[in-house]
Amino acid sequence: MNSYWISSTKKLDVNNKIDNDCECDVCVVGAGICGLSTAYYLAKHGLKVVVVDKNGIGKKASGHTTAKITLQHGLIYDYLINSFGPDFAMGYYKANKQAISNIKKIIDSENIDCDFEYQNNYVFASKKDDLSKIKNEVKALNTLGENAQFLANCDLPCENYGAIKTENQAQFHPRKYMLGLARAINNYGGLIFTDALVSDVQKYDDEYVSVVNSYVIKSKYVVMASHYPFINFPGFYFSKMYQATSYAVAIEIDNNDFDGMYINTGEPTLSFRTAKYDDKKLLIIGGGNHKTGYSPESESFYGYVYLEKEVSKLFPGSKILYKWDTRDCVTLDKVPYIGEFSNFMPNMFVATGFNKWGMTSSNVAGSIIAGKILEKMHPSLSYENSGTFENSNDGNCSSSKLENNYNSSLNCLIDFSKNYEKVFDSSRFSPIKNRGEMKNMLGQVFKSFVSNMLKIPSEDLSAIENDNGGIIKINGSTVGIYKDADGQVFAVDPTCTHLGCLLTWNNVDKTWDCPCHGSRFDYRGKNLYDPAFKDLETYGVD
Ligand code: FES
Repeated sequence: MNSYWISSTKKLDVNNKIDNDCECDVCVVGAGICGLSTAYYLAKHGLKVVVVDKNGIGKKASGHTTAKITLQHGLIYDYLINSFGPDFAMGYYKANKQAISNIKKIIDSENIDCDFEYQNNYVFASKKDDLSKIKNEVKALNTLGENAQFLANCDLPCENYGAIKTENQAQFHPRKYMLGLARAINNYGGLIFTDALVSDVQKYDDEYVSVVNSYVIKSKYVVMASHYPFINFPGFYFSKMYQATSYAVAIEIDNNDFDGMYINTGEPTLSFRTAKYDDKKLLIIGGGNHKTGYSPESESFYGYVYLEKEVSKLFPGSKILYKWDTRDCVTLDKVPYIGEFSNFMPNMFVATGFNKWGMTSSNVAGSIIAGKILEKMHPSLSYENSGTFENSNDGNCSSSKLENNYNSSLNCLIDFSKNYEKVFDSSRFSPIKNRGEMKNMLGQVFKSFVSNMLKIPSEDLSAIENDNGGIIKINGSTVGIYKDADGQVFAVDPTCTHLGCLLTWNNVDKTWDCPCHGSRFDYRGKNLYDPAFKDLETYGVD
């Protein structure tokens, strides 16, 4: 079973295979929603843009999301006000609020048929103890100007003890949206290359050279929108992010059965939203999240096991029609990294760490990065900032500005970038607010490099059962073994090709997962998820 978003959309006619060297203004690495949003704004304003992706359009994280377009990112605003102050929280709030209207404007102006619909968003307490957090978040939201409401309970089949209701949020079919963006990029003269692996990016004088398959793309600017940046130094993003795996299943329901978008507080995560499904609806139930690299098999409240249990409890007799999982980059301070990749690499930009809220965050990223590049590329533009988020009323470009001509919409992007770039500043060194998570992350890296290495048993192959995997020592070498249901053996070097952590076996998905930064490989050693991009070394088995 696959993601509903991917299964219900066709291959796009505008993506190409790279078969030559080329030159452009901006090379965007990643054809997910973030890379496409950035490329869209740039191509629309006349820049020559090339998008490259080693997979297809929206085939990875963006095609495996629950696709809620909301500014209510769980319980974020009370945390932001307390950790960074009200002005910072206001910037985060207004950027994400504007992103909702930006997405709608793109859909309208490019005629993208993507099942967009406004919905109320709810964050509910699934435990009594979380009620005070809900109340604090309502207060925080209202301080920032949102008209959030507290509900004593909400209309859900599961237990809940109070909720936040935020109106005028939205949902859509994310892959239909991305395919619409891709068509628009193509119409504005941009190129999209899929099956195009970027293995290196080097700066020479005032241009970048990206190695893509066996070709090179020369560009003035590079945007790394490839989920987890694969360039480790400089940048050091691996030291300030981890990956989390989330799951979703979908069942068919009647049209009147469910409305709204829901997510609970605390663990285990449980979320709901609907989607159009012919003349009926799908109910998408998400959750069971866990840190990537920890096997979900061991705990019944993680992964598909948990979601399947919830479906049979809450919707008895329902058949699961689709199921999918994804990985999200989570930053230690819960704020995405958007902006310059590093002071040492001018004109290279990065967008990552969306903390599972990639729909509005990717528009925020696209607007900020496009605004910064467009400002540099159009020095003659008479630009006037309409005000910072501290003193503008709603953080929005006025609609007259957006609806006016080319220069107005260009000004809007530059405005957006200037107003919000500091909030998401990718070069920030502010004290890490989430000390607990930082400790966990460092502990995991230590465990993976040192203590797990010491625990590897010196056993023979018979110690591993059929349809299972594990790490053993064979003649002094560390070997990762998977035995399929018939006993056929697949052996790999279980050392992550990113930065060398010891991989763990995930027997649910039959993959080798990295507990350090979340790369994944299939049982044959083929790389599935970044930041690693090289396959594992394999061993012949005698
Ligand atoms: Fe970084 Fe494996 S993903 S070491």
